[in-house]
Amino acid sequence: MLLESAGEGIYGIDLNGRCIFINGAGAQLLGYTPDEVLGRNMHYLIHHSHADCALMPVHDCRIFKAFKQGEGCRVEDEVLWRRDGSSFPAEYASYPIRDGDGVVGAVVTFSDITERKRTEAALHAAHVELERRVETRTRELTEANRRLHEAHENLRRLSAHLNAVRERERAEIARDIHDDLGASLAAMQLELNWLRRHLEADETATRHIDAALGIGNGAIGAVRRILNDLRPGVLDHLGLWAAIEALLQETQTRSSLACSFACPDEIERYRFGRDAEIAIYRIVQETLTNVQRHANAGRVTVGVRAVGRDLVIEIVDDGRGMRLPGMPTSFGLLGMHERARSIGGELTLDSTSGQGTTVRLHLPGVLAHRRMKR
Ligand SMILES: Nc1ncnc2c1ncn2[C@@H]1O[C@H](COP(=O)(O)OP(=O)(O)OP(=O)(O)O)[C@@H](O)[C@H]1O
Ligand SMILES: [Mg+2]
Repeated sequence: MLLESAGEGIYGIDLNGRCIFINGAGAQLLGYTPDEVLGRNMHYLIHHSHADCALMPVHDCRIFKAFKQGEGCRVEDEVLWRRDGSSFPAEYASYPIRDGDGVVGAVVTFSDITERKRTEAALHAAHVELERRVETRTRELTEANRRLHEAHENLRRLSAHLNAVRERERAEIARDIHDDLGASLAAMQLELNWLRRHLEADETATRHIDAALGIGNGAIGAVRRILNDLRPGVLDHLGLWAAIEALLQETQTRSSLACSFACPDEIERYRFGRDAEIAIYRIVQETLTNVQRHANAGRVTVGVRAVGRDLVIEIVDDGRGMRLPGMPTSFGLLGMHERARSIGGELTLDSTSGQGTTVRLHLPGVLAHRRMKR
């Protein structure tokens, strides 16, 4: 009853490997009736070959070997053969039957694991497929990332190049204005002065000439301002810090902002090269313009300090503050970031609502070599 109630196949063999009993389920799995199996050598009947039909000699049979040594074994990578010549993947286990000290036979339990093998194979295939897809996707992402990085790098180079071109053009326009318009205006003033001296007696003429001289002076002032905006001359002649001081003075005169500048003497001696100086100057210029336009501040301070060999420039206002964008999208801030990067620096903004804004330009390593003695 026990044997018959088991779902898996169970049979017993004697020392010669002949079947001494088999349950109904076992016989059915093999395509026989129990009577047809009794007395048969089970190895030759159901276990004679590998899955690829290569013969399995009885001395290679693991059930047989284990049972000769009085041991049990469990196998799940072989097939068993049915009466109709077909095979199925099987899991089987054998246990020796002992009588006193000796082994007199073995009980073998077995089951058809086709389903399990199929599931395992499907699982394995799915796993392989998944790995393949992950690998393909990773490759695609790496490639996309590389292209993105390249595009980003190209854009950055383009932006730096455009800045350089713009500065060069500004310098050329400034030179043209200075040479043509500036010289003409100066000559006109000389001529007007000559006229004034010779027409001193004529009161009406003198009044008109004075008015013309006044207009001429205004025009000369305007040209100077435009020139300075295009290409700050002090930057070339007296260097960055003097140019920034001049910028602050001009800002203070033009607006009601109280401007101050703090720079230690030892840093004032450094020069950083034309490109870097113009970039720093433009960053400070745009920041001051922003403070005047947006901050509603009473005071702005430009502070310069050394941190090791790094240079840190901070522009602090006490205005209304601003919401900091994660990535700058407006062109003023974007341009400042790009200029900072183009000279190997980094720009950061700090702001608390109602408590002003700090723009910090950090330039690593620039205080290392470029010391210039005055
Ligand atoms: N110091 C500041 N205080 C308060 N808000 C500021 C300050 N600086 C910038 N902002 C805010 O950040 C925004 C972006 O500045 P950004 O310089 O990029 O653009 P913009 O000044 O509006 O225009 P653009 O510079 O292109 O003429 C400003 O519109 C303003 O709202
Ligand atoms: Mg701006």
